[in-house]
Amino acid sequence: MGLGVPSDGLAPTPPMGWNSWNRFGPFISEKLVLETADALVESGMRDAGYRYVVIDDAWEESLRDEDGELRENRWAFPHGMRWLSDEIHRRGLRFGLYTCAGTHTCQGYPASHGCEARDARRFAGWGVDFMKVDWCHTRDLGLDGPATYATWSEAIRGCGRPMVFSICEWGRHRPWEWAPSLGHMWRTGPDILDTWPSLMDTLDRQAALAAFAGPDHWNDPDMLEVGNGGMSDDEYRTHFSLWAMLAAPLMAGNDVRAMSDATRAILTAPEVIAIDQDPLGRQGTRVRKDADAEVWSRQLADGSRAVLLLARGSAPQRIGITWRALGLEPGSRIVRDVWERADVARDDEGLELEIAPHGAALVTLRTNTPA
Ligand code: GLA
Repeated sequence: MGLGVPSDGLAPTPPMGWNSWNRFGPFISEKLVLETADALVESGMRDAGYRYVVIDDAWEESLRDEDGELRENRWAFPHGMRWLSDEIHRRGLRFGLYTCAGTHTCQGYPASHGCEARDARRFAGWGVDFMKVDWCHTRDLGLDGPATYATWSEAIRGCGRPMVFSICEWGRHRPWEWAPSLGHMWRTGPDILDTWPSLMDTLDRQAALAAFAGPDHWNDPDMLEVGNGGMSDDEYRTHFSLWAMLAAPLMAGNDVRAMSDATRAILTAPEVIAIDQDPLGRQGTRVRKDADAEVWSRQLADGSRAVLLLARGSAPQRIGITWRALGLEPGSRIVRDVWERADVARDDEGLELEIAPHGAALVTLRTNTPA
């Protein structure tokens, strides 16, 4: 835990779940959410750790009710949010919902400016366990990022129900410097797109932020695009490996009801998830960056190390790294490929692997003797 950061234990490891936005945008409904909840259970994703089912923007009715309360669009959510929340909870899952700090959400629905405490209580009444607060339509109000999210933090803590608080101001006000004491996770940059250049741009924004994260306060590079079709399965494997190294929240953003076996295998890879969820909560750092080759390293709770070798360009790369360059004592280490779930080498000096274009190797290093 970072110095001076209060810890409430709601997000001891990076939150995992599913969010409707990346795949479905505003085209959401009760039916979609329930089918997704069922698919999370049936596919094994829930048991792999994906617990939060988060409904993003466009669930709202276009006006508040006569008492000034936010309400759901009853055409898309005919049984209402309380009912849906109960159904989600009945499946052993948790319920997440979205609002915005400005006058309107990014999709133009009523948002929460000036109603922070009231809306947090409304969400609590619906059984919400996770609240994402976005940043659209704040400019005309001249809102200050840290002050606004401090108001939210107080509203959520005072609403009568424990909720994970997800701050989403797109990294505009260097949230890593003030958000750790206010929320459990904060977006570090603009929206991710389902493309390789966007993935690399998103990655580069994380490189200097490792020191700010830890249990109950995580950098959020954005939700996963795995399975959405814009990248290859190999690129998605790289995406997922990188998020694990970054101790990033793992919010699946695909159509879980209709995913391929390859997508399911990526999203549920147990040893990759174990790195993401490592209890030490130490975010990985980039230890080497050449033109098209990078090495990232992450310290794990059991004393072992996760190492990722990344080939960013369109040609294969031979990437090597010595134990010394990783800051490790010389000596014999077992190299384990966490995707293959197999020990693949043992070496006294270091590691060198051929990496396919846009590929990544994700391994752990351990000494012969238990740490
Ligand atoms: C912003 C957020 C996204 C999503 C949309 C919804 O762009 O960054 O994650 O919530 O709004 O409109």
